Amino acid sequence: MEKIEPLIPGPKIEARVQELGREISSDYKGLQLILVSILKGSFLFLADLTRAIDVPHEIDFLSVSSYGTSTHSSGVVRLLKDLGTNIEGRDVLVVEDIVDTGLTWQYIRNNLFTRNPLSLRIVTLLDKRGRRLVDVPVDYVGFVIPDRFVVGYGLDYMERYRNLPYIGALDDNSLQGSGKENHFKN
Ligand code: IMP
Repeated sequence: MEKIEPLIPGPKIEARVQELGREISSDYKGLQLILVSILKGSFLFLADLTRAIDVPHEIDFLSVSSYGTSTHSSGVVRLLKDLGTNIEGRDVLVVEDIVDTGLTWQYIRNNLFTRNPLSLRIVTLLDKRGRRLVDVPVDYVGFVIPDRFVVGYGLDYMERYRNLPYIGALDDNSLQGSGKENHFKN
């Protein structure tokens, strides 16, 4: 078993998601908002965020996988499940669990831009901005976190810990740096 150090307690996440919901509701009043949740890591964040947004909106899902080790992505991204919605002319808000190097968001952003949305932004629960490798804009951020590998509230380590009701950091000694296609993305 890995050791997990609590970092952000559940009630603090809940309060911040409510704030983000209010901010997004006010920014998207009267617009054609569609939330695009990136699977699997953002599923809990999406579930809470959609209920905190009080302007009409649709929801769709995109699933991507990045190659790398179990804790580090390589930036080579593969589309596993595409949207079911045509986003041309729509105000698209991507919902992510975490932006780390920024490579995944850069790939998704470039991909979605080719479909001519009216606007394209991202809301990420966590921002590990100290590790950014590409200068890609990040519009709404729940929490800026240090360079630790985190799990819980949807985020996994080798598919485990998504169910934790808080965000915790894995002990560095618990992490394995090996693996083929990584286990943390989706
Ligand atoms: P990127 O480095 O910004 O491309 O992040 C790629 C993906 O890695 C994110 O969407 C997450 O799914 C995953 N990821 C990055 N850091 C963590 C972490 O600390 N815990 C769990 N998943 C992570």
